[in-house]
Amino acid sequence: MKKKYLMTPGPTPVPAEVLLTQAAPMIHHRTPDFSAAFVEAIEGLKYVFQTETSDALLFASSGTGAMESSIANCFSAGDTVVVCRNGKFGDRMKQISEAYGLSVIDLAYEWTQVVDPADVATALEENPGVRGVIVTQSETSSGVLNDVKTVGAIVREYPDCVLIVDSITGIGAVECKADDWGLDVVMTGSQKGLMLPPGLAALTVSQKAWKACERSNLPKFYFDWKRYKKSFDKQTTPFTPAVSLVLGLNESLRMIREEGLENTIARHARLAEATRRGCEALGLALFAPPEGRGSAVTPVWVPDGVDGKAIVKIMKEKYGVTIAGGQDDYAGRIFRVGHLGYFGEFDIITTLAALEMTLDELGFQFERGAGIRAAETVFMGE
Ligand SMILES: Cc1ncc(COP(=O)(O)O)c(C=O)c1O
Repeated sequence: MKKKYLMTPGPTPVPAEVLLTQAAPMIHHRTPDFSAAFVEAIEGLKYVFQTETSDALLFASSGTGAMESSIANCFSAGDTVVVCRNGKFGDRMKQISEAYGLSVIDLAYEWTQVVDPADVATALEENPGVRGVIVTQSETSSGVLNDVKTVGAIVREYPDCVLIVDSITGIGAVECKADDWGLDVVMTGSQKGLMLPPGLAALTVSQKAWKACERSNLPKFYFDWKRYKKSFDKQTTPFTPAVSLVLGLNESLRMIREEGLENTIARHARLAEATRRGCEALGLALFAPPEGRGSAVTPVWVPDGVDGKAIVKIMKEKYGVTIAGGQDDYAGRIFRVGHLGYFGEFDIITTLAALEMTLDELGFQFERGAGIRAAETVFMGE
């Protein structure tokens, strides 16, 4: 037997309480029982998205469904949007926008760079009539945290322009305040900070986004937001919901409420800091720049002379610790340690220990124990 540790930025570990809730016998979705659970889930989602003025919608889909729905519902054929992209998921937002025939003002950055809000301001000034700005808050491919608060303050000044935020690995890991920051659409997926299996996507829709939705003429059916809102007014869903996941969601939301969202975010910050310091103590270089490091995932450069794919393979096969490799151009060049959702101190200590043993086997020179010690120092508040 080998004990397994899932240290990836999605899917993430699911707490036993949540798993057990999902194992309950099936209930029918057109019943008062399901309606009560569904309303509770929507209210809980509004808490994690930090909104009282937006609606929250829930889909049976992966996160990409929420991404696609935000484009299909906020825009019309030929509209112009600003897409900020500094990683794989920003790239995906551009692809979806283009698939729907939108005209894209492409704010492209290196994966190691943070989106500069001043560029958004300039793009909006120079291109009157832009209907939307799209930003990934927490770029899972690079670990970069983009400053959506500042972007929100800029976009707020444009009454016909909505701000769409992919916070799929941000929600529950970093601060993300839909109302206070003026974020019109914020989305997440179940297999991330919500500590559930994959299969649910959720997003918020501000009053400004509903206005955009009213004029939108792009084709939509399954992800037509208005259908979800109309059904929610009757405490139900337009299509068969992922019943077990919704019941599980209420359990995970209960756990987040019990911890308190601020404490959840502080825990993630601590875990991320310990991972970063642990890796640096081994002589490894962090991928994301100091001015924009998120708490969901820590990407690390593979040191010269070491086979990056072997790090991921040995950690999984020999030590049972699954971390993620790099994506696209960074495959084999970086590895990524996820710490988003149901994680505690000893998940990080275990991962750093497995990393040390793996690097040692691969011939990398470093002081064994230094990574774990650095993480302990963070956890002990020294
Ligand atoms: C930031 C971000 N956006 C979008 C997605 C896409 O979500 P999904 O794979 O659930 O469709 C992911 C998934 O990893 C993500 O991390």
